[in-house]
Amino acid sequence: MRSLPLLPSLLLTVVISLIATTVKAQPNPHYVALLNDSMWFYEAQQSGRLPSTHRVPWRGDSALNDGSDNNIDLVGGYYDAGDYLKFTLPLSHSIALIAWGGIEWFDGYQKANQTEYLRNTVRWGTDWLMKAHPSDNELYVQVGDGEIDNNYWGPDTGIPSDRPSYKITSDAPGTDIAALTAAAFAASSYLFRNQLNDTSYADALQSHAESLYNFAETAQPMQLYTEAVSASKDYYEATTYTSPLVFAALWLFRATGNTSYRDKASNYFDQFKLGSMQVDVMDWSDQTGAVYVLGAQLDGSNTKYKDAAKKYLDTLINGGDPCSYTSGGLLWCGGDSDLNSLVPAQDTALLALLYGKIDSPEADYTDFATSQIKYMLGDNRMLTPYVCGVHMNSPHNPHHAGASGGTDISNIETSPPEEKYLLYGAIVGGPDQEDKFYDERNDWAQTEVALDYNAPFLGLIARQLSADTTEDPPYVSITEPRPYVTRSVRLEKWLVAVIVIVCIFVVAGLLYLCWCKRHAMANSWRAKQNNKAEAV
Ligand SMILES: *[C@@H]1O[C@H](CO)[C@@H](O)[C@H](O)[C@H]1NC(C)=O
Ligand SMILES: *[C@@H]1O[C@H](CO)[C@@H](O)[C@H](O)[C@H]1NC(C)=O
Repeated sequence: MRSLPLLPSLLLTVVISLIATTVKAQPNPHYVALLNDSMWFYEAQQSGRLPSTHRVPWRGDSALNDGSDNNIDLVGGYYDAGDYLKFTLPLSHSIALIAWGGIEWFDGYQKANQTEYLRNTVRWGTDWLMKAHPSDNELYVQVGDGEIDNNYWGPDTGIPSDRPSYKITSDAPGTDIAALTAAAFAASSYLFRNQLNDTSYADALQSHAESLYNFAETAQPMQLYTEAVSASKDYYEATTYTSPLVFAALWLFRATGNTSYRDKASNYFDQFKLGSMQVDVMDWSDQTGAVYVLGAQLDGSNTKYKDAAKKYLDTLINGGDPCSYTSGGLLWCGGDSDLNSLVPAQDTALLALLYGKIDSPEADYTDFATSQIKYMLGDNRMLTPYVCGVHMNSPHNPHHAGASGGTDISNIETSPPEEKYLLYGAIVGGPDQEDKFYDERNDWAQTEVALDYNAPFLGLIARQLSADTTEDPPYVSITEPRPYVTRSVRLEKWLVAVIVIVCIFVVAGLLYLCWCKRHAMANSWRAKQNNKAEAV
């Protein structure tokens, strides 16, 4: 009699544990792979002596004398894009975004078992930034000469050895880059202290952040770093130093808890009138949009941040000036999207989701962000996920010297015809305004890859994992090949001139013919009138 209730209760236990295992679902494996691959891309960009954890088989140690011209060790860090230059500005911007996404969606990295890769990705950048900041008022901002480097196309074994290093100092300051690098240090410090549990590294990062911020604030005149280092001017000239100053102060407040940074941020925000700035897409050149969202997150009682954030996101997302949408649904912001269309879309989606964390459900920008994520993962006219190496329709020709396997700079496009190595996880520039993508290695606007293209992507994917998104990314169900498209014919000015001249000649010729035949024409008209008259 006693054994009878045992059986149902046993069954019940089995059923409950079965349900429990199904409910505690595994993370979507495609998003796990995307997160993994997009950090693999950063390993492909590693400069210096590669660490034992390095996973890219075709990369080796390189640029081992960086900094020697200034008797300093600047070995390491990341190459910026498809070339072998190292730039502090987009690196710092990228590190700040990666750290921010890592802090907010750390559970996404945990579910995907990728926290150690997050640690390595950020740390390879910040270790180098520490080297680049050897004393309080000195920050190296570029290694390698743009002219020399951009005339080299080949593997990491043949990088031209003439690699000058450039710095800002008290006498030649750069407010934007000192502040933005302070922001990268402070955001990473928060991540290492609170998510990655490495207090001593977090302390080191914090002390660099505070020192650099002091440099940014005190060195006069306040100016863009490209005023001091003209070598960077053609590559990474920021549009303002005001937003980095506020962005960094906010991150320092978060990292240190010191309210004087919160007050500095608020004062600069007012002084520079950031609240009434014309809306401009947040990217490496201007962090104003990021200031709004971070300020709203950290200083909630100060409604100016929240108001500005909502206005900013509402304007962009509703396609207000300077943005609109392509017919395929990609956010398109004039002036920015032409150079790398997926960057404004991703950066705006990232800010939208970050803002959604603090002001939900009132301001729900999730649909917008999801639409942009889906677009870049295959829900587009080209049936193409704009991530290398994840699908047969992925870009095959990223503009990347190392991955291409080519050595002939005058024949980047065709030599070799097929890219030698897969650049897993790299986000390319993206399609044009007609949603067309040609996958041409030499078309750097569409196919170049860069540190700051992948940075928002890490956050977006970590967020999908954090939200337990079960739906597969769109490319998973795409079985058709990428459709073939040709470029729309754009009439050149000389062609228009020729057409106009030809038309003038034709019209003039017709008029001349009429003139010659005027008597005959007049006669026939008179004849017709006479006939009519007779008929009446
Ligand atoms: C991460 O990427 C590497 C290189 O492609 C691969 O070997 C590894 O299996 C991937 N891991 C996951 C979890 O996808
Ligand atoms: C850091 O500690 C927290 C709390 O104990 C834990 O949840 C987290 O997984 C740790 N992080 C790492 C990278 O181990």
